Amino acid sequence: MNAIILAGGKGSRMKDQLPKVCQKLFGKEFINYVVDALKTAGIENIYPIVGYEKDTVLRAIDIKNYFVQEEQLGTGHAVMMADAALAGKKGTTFVIAGDQPLITAESIKKVIDLHQKNNNDLTMLTAIMDNPFGYGRIIKDGEQVVKIVEEKDATEVEKLIKEVNISTMCFDNEKLFKHLKDIKNDNVKGEYYLTDLIEIFTQNGLKIQATPAITSEETIGINDKVDLAKAQKTLQQIINTRHMLNGVTLVDPANTYIGPDVVIGAGTTIYPNSTLEGKTVIGQNSKILSSYIMDSIVGDNTSVGPYAHIRAGAVIGDNNRIGNFVEVKKSILGDGVKAAHLTYIGDSEVGDKVNFGCGVVTVNYDGKNKFKTVISDEVFIGSNVNLIAPITVGQGAKIAAGSTVTDDIPAHSLAIARDRQTNKVDYYKK
Ligand code: UD1
Ligand code: MG
Repeated sequence: MNAIILAGGKGSRMKDQLPKVCQKLFGKEFINYVVDALKTAGIENIYPIVGYEKDTVLRAIDIKNYFVQEEQLGTGHAVMMADAALAGKKGTTFVIAGDQPLITAESIKKVIDLHQKNNNDLTMLTAIMDNPFGYGRIIKDGEQVVKIVEEKDATEVEKLIKEVNISTMCFDNEKLFKHLKDIKNDNVKGEYYLTDLIEIFTQNGLKIQATPAITSEETIGINDKVDLAKAQKTLQQIINTRHMLNGVTLVDPANTYIGPDVVIGAGTTIYPNSTLEGKTVIGQNSKILSSYIMDSIVGDNTSVGPYAHIRAGAVIGDNNRIGNFVEVKKSILGDGVKAAHLTYIGDSEVGDKVNFGCGVVTVNYDGKNKFKTVISDEVFIGSNVNLIAPITVGQGAKIAAGSTVTDDIPAHSLAIARDRQTNKVDYYKK
């Protein structure tokens, strides 16, 4: 079983330089949603067809095998790019568009199962839409799908058909590549439509069946920024519902933005205007207040925000308090750490029960290279301290407020690195 993802188009209707399949929903590219759904459905051999800005697409995905479509001459032409590698092979080829990120593994499995059970030559996943504008309409004769008519080529009567093509098709591989060659580009757009294969298969007496996707909400194909916003709303509802049913409190679900791969423990509360993206994991009974968290781990009973920025690679332990305007990047924090206000912790290793005063900065960058800060257990750092990395602070040490520390500090010591104050008595009386 092979899968081909159509990902070569620019997505002109998006009016954006970024290739359409690299547009994101909650921080994850469309194409990666499709790849993950295919993998979950059990398909291992996945071949994207790339073309427009192909390097950007290839950088976004973790897939080694792909085919290049130098010129985007239509969805049928895109599949032809796999001809040299796949033509003539026995088996099933699943073709799916890269611009329908909400598609589920369950629906993919449904169409594959039907294909195999009925020994079809082609089995299509379809959608029944109240407003089918823009989609290819499915034309049937009994069970057999006989034709797909694209919006631009449809008659007024055909435009009334509500069952549409969602470019998710299961083919007998040999027949797919045999008949791809019969597709012509004599249509309004002058493109080689993959959808023309339906009529060609029918003319050749091949068996085509259609089955609707399990939910209609997963079938949206995103062509412009209006579709994008709609898909985002739908996905937000699906994701947030799942978390709420798992025991996560979302104070205002409509204003909470959680990526599809985020994991949150029961008993945790997420306050409005929080964005959690990437492979973020939040423990139990924690609190996230109006903060942005990306590809990070936050432990149990920990409070983050309001207005904290937890960037990629942060690992924050249990019972921490990460307060307002605190940024943590690529750092590991132990348990019971407090950084309540205005602090930057970057490229650091922080032990347990460390206290960061207000305005502490790990100075990790000299303009060229990044350096590491190591802070051992039970260190107390006064307000407005700069820790010039590379630097190690020993266990139980204290650093006086306002210090700019450049040298390692031994355990259980007090470091003061600032000028002693002089008071010029009566200076302004003269
Ligand atoms: C296509 C279908 C239409 C269906 C709709 C939604 C055709 C002719 N039409 O229309 O029946 O209802 O999807 O599923 O297939 N692509 C390439 N190379 C190309 C052209 C497109 O790789 O030369 C890729 C695009 O990157 C995109 C996908 O194919 O991921 C679909 O292309 P798009 O232009 O969005 O097709 P639609 O007009 O939506
Ligand atoms: Mg589309």
